[in-house]
Amino acid sequence: MSRTNADFTLRSFIDQVEAEDPDAVWRIRDEVNLDNDVTAVAMELERLGRSPVLWFDAVAGYSMPVVCNLFGNRRRYALGLGVPTERLIRDWGILGDRRIAPVMRERGPIHDVVVTGKDVDLSTLPIMLHFDCDAGRYITNGIVIAKDPDTGVRNASFHRMQVKGPNRLGTSLHSRRHLWTYMQRSEERGEDAPVTIILGGHPTVTFGGLWKGPITTDEYEVIGGMMGTPLEIAPGITVPVEAPIHAEIVIEGRILANVREPEGPFAEFTGYASKRSTEHVIEVTAIMHRKDALYHDIIPGISDEHTSLLAVPQEARLLRMLHTHYPNVTDVAYPKSGTCRLHAYISVHRPAPGLARLVAAAALGDDLSLKLVVVVDDDVDVHNDSDVLWAMATRMQADQDIDILRNGMGAILDPSNRDGLTAKMIIDATRPSKDFPDRHTLDQAAVARAQGLIEGKFGRTA
Ligand SMILES: Cc1cc2nc3c(=O)[nH]c(=O)nc-3n(C[C@H](O)[C@H](O)[C@H](O)COP(=O)(O)O)c2cc1C
Repeated sequence: MSRTNADFTLRSFIDQVEAEDPDAVWRIRDEVNLDNDVTAVAMELERLGRSPVLWFDAVAGYSMPVVCNLFGNRRRYALGLGVPTERLIRDWGILGDRRIAPVMRERGPIHDVVVTGKDVDLSTLPIMLHFDCDAGRYITNGIVIAKDPDTGVRNASFHRMQVKGPNRLGTSLHSRRHLWTYMQRSEERGEDAPVTIILGGHPTVTFGGLWKGPITTDEYEVIGGMMGTPLEIAPGITVPVEAPIHAEIVIEGRILANVREPEGPFAEFTGYASKRSTEHVIEVTAIMHRKDALYHDIIPGISDEHTSLLAVPQEARLLRMLHTHYPNVTDVAYPKSGTCRLHAYISVHRPAPGLARLVAAAALGDDLSLKLVVVVDDDVDVHNDSDVLWAMATRMQADQDIDILRNGMGAILDPSNRDGLTAKMIIDATRPSKDFPDRHTLDQAAVARAQGLIEGKFGRTA
């Protein structure tokens, strides 16, 4: 039976997660404070190596439940995309390339409650303070939909948003991608940019917001492609930008042309309170939501949730790009030790002399945030820091195998970069020659016998 848009909602996805594993959703009925408590629960669980979806029923002062940590675990990305976990990175690229145009509806559940003009008040939503260094309460799960001022193509991208008043948000376009480019062009004409901000949808809506494709791609078509059915959208109420009718909450407004105000500091994926911001301002013109809306938050800072939301799309994008030029590239990882943003590990099957350098240079050109790329052979597990460091320890000589490109454009949020510039390092940790010693291995029959023995003594989870 084909699935409709009603099957692609945040609530239907949480039901699906719970049906697959009842322990994967923790419904917390005890009252918690709006500020700090939600982040503290998620971070304490992370310290214990646990990552359930968190559903807070009783946030003091609000009747709207708060849901977070949906993306704290890669299994749920795969479930959202409808693919096996081990194929997540490859299938993300394949499904992301599929385009299905959205269909226009007059209205939908998102219009259950609509507030416009003077009645707009952001404090009616449980927007919270996450870390004690934050400048204020932040929307962390806002997907901004904007239209290219020249072509009308729709872009979807995440941007942190600081609440500055009942109808005022501060934001940062620091990743300097499509919305930043739109805004530069709008400002040259002195025009505001109308936007629709989605808060809470099916994971495929989130993935559309994270998709990094050409600027000519309409990202509502990407979401449709990932769902396998057209996304149902309706015209904006106060702005000429359409919204998905099955979202939980939608905010409409305008990014003001040539207006800048201090924004931040905010706890970022780097693990620091970041004061760096492009300091854009959004004036909110409407808030709408379902009658029983869920408020969906993403745990910011260097949480597993935030960093894996950065890693998964980048791994997919980089693997796909490298594969078109270098088919013997086998895997890509953005390790958490590199904030899932600044470092990448790439494995290659039997690289020809000099190929590792080219693969690394291509990666640096593709992703401006990268400042270290380590290339290893495909017997090394790029998802395991120790394995990569072992390859560096035993296959690399610093005077031969390291190259540094100085003064490249880098991630603004890297606190060590200088005025936007950073050094880029390539480490070739592949076997230096064909007659290099073999890695020691175990007899596979002995391994199977050992596993049987261990299971008999300690059980399956030993
Ligand atoms: C939780 C989260 C928060 C983000 N916050 C910001 C932000 O505040 N500013 C920004 O420029 N990019 C931010 N990003 C990154 C962009 O949303 C991301 O690079 C996006 O893919 C850009 O879309 P585009 O390539 O279609 O322009 C964030 C990403 C995530 C996952």
